[in-house]
Amino acid sequence: MIIAVDGPTASGKGTIAKQLASHFDIPHLDTGLLYRAVGHQVILNGGDPDNERDAVAACDFPAALLDDAVLRSETTGSLASRVSVHPAVRQALFDRQRSFATQSNGAVLDGRDIGTIIAPDADVKLFITASVQERARRRWLEMTDRGIEVQLTEVEADIAKRDARDINRSDAPLKAAVDAFVIDTTSFNREEAFETVLETVQTALA
Ligand code: DC
Repeated sequence: MIIAVDGPTASGKGTIAKQLASHFDIPHLDTGLLYRAVGHQVILNGGDPDNERDAVAACDFPAALLDDAVLRSETTGSLASRVSVHPAVRQALFDRQRSFATQSNGAVLDGRDIGTIIAPDADVKLFITASVQERARRRWLEMTDRGIEVQLTEVEADIAKRDARDINRSDAPLKAAVDAFVIDTTSFNREEAFETVLETVQTALA
């Protein structure tokens, strides 16, 4: 069983994907982490994230980098979004994602192009979204909780910029697959969001 979970930044798709994996007891891959590792590795290499050759060279990042807390930062998220526009980077990361998706135990993958490119054959495709204002509010709360001082307006502007880059790139842009269930969590708390998701998945699998 493959479950594809796509959506924009701070939509809650990562949390939902983790909850689904735990509910169905199947492995989960956060594909954004791969792009984040590439983005961070480009900087370690002294390269330019907007240069396709530098970004491709960073695709052989060491596996241990995936556990580094630096990958979770907003700065790395934005670097990831920049390296992810290069078709050769997406190609270099394809096999790894595809083999995770097709392992015999089943899998949940979350990202931007899981339902469209990585696993168009997924059993269930979800597209998790929420308004920019609500996503900014959630991200701002999360950052403030971690002791990071930042203005809500700044967070909202960053999210809008990242959305625009992810949606407008020509290769594998962020979009819902035609057969995806679109779930807008703007007015839901975490529990309500997961309840709706689980109901949707169970109905789709029945
Ligand atoms: O999900 P995230 O915020 O960790 O992703 C960081 C960036 O990586 C995102 O802005 C675009 C890119 N990305 C992608 O292009 N395709 C994916 N499947 C996952 C992430």
